[in-house]
Amino acid sequence: MHGHGKDDPNAETIDVTFIEKDGTETKVKAPIGQSMLEVAHKNDIELEGACEGSLACSTCHVIIEDEKVYDALPEPDDDENDMLDLAFGLTETSRLGCQVIAAKEIDGLRLSLPRATRNFAVDGFVPKPH
Ligand code: FES
Repeated sequence: MHGHGKDDPNAETIDVTFIEKDGTETKVKAPIGQSMLEVAHKNDIELEGACEGSLACSTCHVIIEDEKVYDALPEPDDDENDMLDLAFGLTETSRLGCQVIAAKEIDGLRLSLPRATRNFAVDGFVPKPH
């Protein structure tokens, strides 16, 4: 019979994996509509977000691991691009975490936190095989 399925409409979350500077992966549930900045903070992930999402900093810089997922996101607007230009370690798939909103299209999203800040470059980084 139908009616009682696994698709609980109240459980609207997607899976997001944060990859921290040391390679630690943390998989969390992100409620649809929340920004990755909020999700990170709720889960004690070290993502700064100094301006609380008002596009006035670049401390919430994250790197989207999968290009397809990056493409599935709405394009960054000019303000975001301006801030990203200032971000250290900018990559082709960099975004500001506060502008990435959880949505079905990006279920399974994997985000890296930029490893190096300023002149602190770590060379011996080896991702843990898992
Ligand atoms: Fe400042 Fe995202 S928190 S731009």
